[in-house]
Amino acid sequence: MKFFVDTAIAEEIRELNDYGLLDGVTTNPSLIAKSGRDFKEVVAEICAIVDGPVSAEVAATDFDGMMVEARILSALAANVVVKLPLTLDGLKACRALSTEGIHTNVTLCFSANQALLAAKAGASYISPFIGRLDDINLDGMALIHEIRAIYDNYGFETEILAASIRSANHVKEAALAGADVATIPPAVIRGLAQHPLTDKGLDQFIKDWTSTGQSIR
Ligand code: G3P
Repeated sequence: MKFFVDTAIAEEIRELNDYGLLDGVTTNPSLIAKSGRDFKEVVAEICAIVDGPVSAEVAATDFDGMMVEARILSALAANVVVKLPLTLDGLKACRALSTEGIHTNVTLCFSANQALLAAKAGASYISPFIGRLDDINLDGMALIHEIRAIYDNYGFETEILAASIRSANHVKEAALAGADVATIPPAVIRGLAQHPLTDKGLDQFIKDWTSTGQSIR
């Protein structure tokens, strides 16, 4: 499963990328607002930090506006993926852009039927929001399983990009469900490597090694 980081904070992306943990980045208007930076400037910077796909979302809600903005965003860097909302205009833009060879990420997906429409429109990625379904007492992970089954039934190449990830458990469950990608908040990515028994075991290894009085170097 590919790991994308879900943030527009360039420093966080740089740090995680230096650990070799990142396969890409997703942003959205809320994350751009949190960055406090110029949208096109921060997207261009992020695209220079990571080699993988970087999702940048249109602000327009009408087809014509989406197409204008998509071409502007796509021209920022070769690894830009244009993010489009899962609406009828978003699906129309997805189909048009995919025929032009522009990679798309259809976002704000909350049902299997929405995901089916996105795949039929040629989406490169579909972003089902797990956490926001859980927030209203629905089963976000069940949606990942449903989309995986439908896409496999018909051989759709659209990649399932599990989004609205809130915990390490979401990451594990999304991997078990067969998501192609998980887009993960920086803190959750860092937490994946942590375990108290690892810390305890390493402390003991260091203590015992020190007692030998030896040096490897
Ligand atoms: O990629 C979508 C993600 O940013 C939404 O997360 O926690 O606001 O539902 P959240």
